Amino acid sequence: MASTIATKPSSTPAAISGSSEISKLGATFYHGIDNYRAALEVALAIFSGVELDYRFDRVDLCNDDQLSSALRPSYDIVLLLRTFHRLVNSYGEAQAKHTLEMLAARCTDKFVALVGDARLNRRSRPMEASSDQALLVEVMTGVGFEVEHQRDVDVESRTWTWFVFGRH
Ligand SMILES: C[S@@+](CC[C@H](N)C(=O)[O-])C[C@H]1O[C@@H](n2cnc3c(N)ncnc32)[C@H](O)[C@@H]1O
Repeated sequence: MASTIATKPSSTPAAISGSSEISKLGATFYHGIDNYRAALEVALAIFSGVELDYRFDRVDLCNDDQLSSALRPSYDIVLLLRTFHRLVNSYGEAQAKHTLEMLAARCTDKFVALVGDARLNRRSRPMEASSDQALLVEVMTGVGFEVEHQRDVDVESRTWTWFVFGRH
């Protein structure tokens, strides 16, 4: 059973509540990071009633120094939900790949990502050749993970794809 979990806190209380269910699955530590203060405050409020060792840090995922000093050496599970496209759109593919590699390097077991479809994600970059999903899989397989599960779901009128990566 997972003992350490890293995840992004959600900007929506409902999703954070879902995250707190993780404690019931046997997790002993939960680490949420985001650069949006309001999301962190909501996450803290929700987790205050959860019997779990947790912490939330305000960190820019694309700031190497901030990310390195905030992260623990390893996590059993890393969740990167509906955020990879934001990194690509705001900071470019090279930085998004680098951030993903930093998170993956600290993941010892499962890396779970929820990624939007390429057409919508690439609205502002229609000429880009690769999709965020393809980029995600390329980076993860390049650092020693393989796709164990993949499933499309509709969320808020968009199609998102769940990826569960496991180490080879
Ligand atoms: C679409 S929301 C997804 C939130 C949650 N994971 C969910 O699935 O409901 C994207 C999140 O990424 C965060 N984010 C975007 N850029 C970031 C960055 N550079 N560093 C840290 N967090 C960032 C936003 O603040 C926001 O909470």
